Amino acid sequence: MRTVLITGAASGMGLAIAKRFLSGSDNLVLVDINAQKLAQAAQELQAPTGQLSEVVADVSQPTDCARLVQAALSFSGRLDVVINSAGIWVEGPSEQASEEEWDRTLSVNLKGPFFVCRHAIPHLEKTNGCIINIASDAGLVGNAGASIYSASKGGLVLLSRSLALELAPKGIRVNAVCPCDVATPMIDYQAATYGNGDPEQYKRNLLAHYPQKHRARFATSDEVAELVHYLASDKAAPITGAALPIDFGLTAGY
Ligand SMILES: NC(=O)c1ccc[n+]([C@@H]2O[C@H](COP(=O)([O-])OP(=O)(O)OC[C@H]3O[C@@H](n4cnc5c(N)ncnc54)[C@H](O)[C@@H]3O)[C@@H](O)[C@H]2O)c1
Repeated sequence: MRTVLITGAASGMGLAIAKRFLSGSDNLVLVDINAQKLAQAAQELQAPTGQLSEVVADVSQPTDCARLVQAALSFSGRLDVVINSAGIWVEGPSEQASEEEWDRTLSVNLKGPFFVCRHAIPHLEKTNGCIINIASDAGLVGNAGASIYSASKGGLVLLSRSLALELAPKGIRVNAVCPCDVATPMIDYQAATYGNGDPEQYKRNLLAHYPQKHRARFATSDEVAELVHYLASDKAAPITGAALPIDFGLTAGY
């Protein structure tokens, strides 16, 4: 039985990924900063007794990253898959950005995944394990109006590639997944916070960039979870150091 650690597991893609792994026979360690949402998610998952453990932690804090990896080991004695899905969105004109926005976004989206990996490496080495980091299309191409977020996700892509090279001799694979807009609470938050009072128009504006034109839609968290589940399987053994778009061609070019 593998042990799969998922950060940001209380919502959106993290929760969908947890569901997907649970449909196999993996042990799950769910991590989130939001204790209430995490408890709800765990209840929703209806995992058999002993198959699921919850850890409330803030990945922006390296001490929490150490603690959550330790909690996974205490739970099952092993660690096979690490999925860094915890993340936050920020946008707005760069000339109005605050240092707090920069620090918080980089700490959650980039420092967090690094320190989770840093503490997980010795344990993943024992299981020939793998790491999957949820980056973004905004980590592959620039995003006007979201420079801080893009910097954090671009950093996460190259962190993933660098770790893939470094950890290959240890038998650990590392990949980044780069989704387009995905229908999750994060998109609703973006639309509500930055949509100038018209969240539906905000969402239409996002979809206007897609090559599918009037057929465009957001990806679903289940679609992303399926890719993540595959990447963590033995079938994906040759895939490491990849930054895989799952984006309807949004980053394919003009
Ligand atoms: N939704 C999208 O359109 C989209 C697109 C591309 C990439 N992403 C990325 O995918 C990942 C998942 O996003 P989502 O859409 O599922 O978002 P979401 O907001 O639904 O879920 C994110 C989860 O991360 C948790 N979290 C936030 N800060 C944390 C912290 N410091 N420590 C621990 N947990 C924390 C939140 O409580 C939440 O449960 C994020 O990294 C996001 O940047 C999202």
